[in-house]
Amino acid sequence: MNDNTIAVIGAGTMGNGIAQLAASAGLKVHMIDVNASALDAGMTAINRALERAVSRDKLSADDAAATQARLQPATSLEGIGECSLIIEAASENPEVKRSIFRQLHEAAHPDAILASNTSSISLTDIAAHSGRPDKVIGMHFFNPAPVMALVEVIRALQTSDETFTRTRDLALQLGKTPVEVKDSPGFIVNRMLVPMINEAVFVLAEGVASAQDIDAAMKLGSNQPMGPLALADLIGLDICLSVMEVLYAEFADSKYRPCPLLKQMVAAGYLGRKSGRGFHHYA
Ligand SMILES: NC(=O)c1ccc[n+]([C@@H]2O[C@H](COP(=O)([O-])OP(=O)(O)OC[C@H]3O[C@@H](n4cnc5c(N)ncnc54)[C@H](O)[C@@H]3O)[C@@H](O)[C@H]2O)c1
Repeated sequence: MNDNTIAVIGAGTMGNGIAQLAASAGLKVHMIDVNASALDAGMTAINRALERAVSRDKLSADDAAATQARLQPATSLEGIGECSLIIEAASENPEVKRSIFRQLHEAAHPDAILASNTSSISLTDIAAHSGRPDKVIGMHFFNPAPVMALVEVIRALQTSDETFTRTRDLALQLGKTPVEVKDSPGFIVNRMLVPMINEAVFVLAEGVASAQDIDAAMKLGSNQPMGPLALADLIGLDICLSVMEVLYAEFADSKYRPCPLLKQMVAAGYLGRKSGRGFHHYA
């Protein structure tokens, strides 16, 4: 096992961002995706981001090449035996995650930490299916991972202190600010941010104000860089709805009920920026 080698499972939006971040910080990174075209797309996204940084004089061509050389794309878990920590950033589905963690337990070094970037699935449940519950932890990055400063480090009920300390140290090594969180629906950020977005949708649905005025009010009146409805469009309305559904189901508290208009927007396919239309319109 090598302390300077990690793996990232999933080469999608978050996986390729985390892999780029770790390779840029000097770590060797196995980036693994079961889907070869997703793996190619992930590598292309990283290469483009590095080229952009070089063209803007934020990175030397030599450093970009060295970062690329530290990345090992693969479609199988072969090679992960040397990793000290593995970050799973695959699809947000409990069965997929449980199955990945079972496979990781078989393939990884016995002392390796298995972290998940899940936004909403219980780490305690993932740990219970992993075969090494004390070495399972949440490492919740924010999108885009190379840019956003925060990592929520989430302790499952079974996580050991040593696992927590090693994971927090890795977050620091990656240049992030870690915060310690107990396993709980939505952790810190989504628990507060998404209900605020949901409330903004209620304000819109009740005709209290227009989408433009709701966003302007929250930007100018509470100093948010982006209004809540514009932020919902950026995150994806389907993602916001699924976070509300998790909070509502897990806490069984009506204060987390998703706004009917949010459900309708998702049913209509108005998902925000990614579909060209959400609470605002995009070219
Ligand atoms: N997108 C965000 O803003 C965001 C932010 C924080 C956390 N997350 C979490 O990060 C995780 C990934 O999200 P994403 O937006 O990158 O998803 P995504 O759909 O862009 O990528 C997921 C990738 O996982 C791959 N995959 C599926 N099963 C796999 C398996 N068994 N082995 C290896 N790869 C597999 C898929 O092929 C796909 O390329 C989710 O748990 C999500 O909740 C997402």
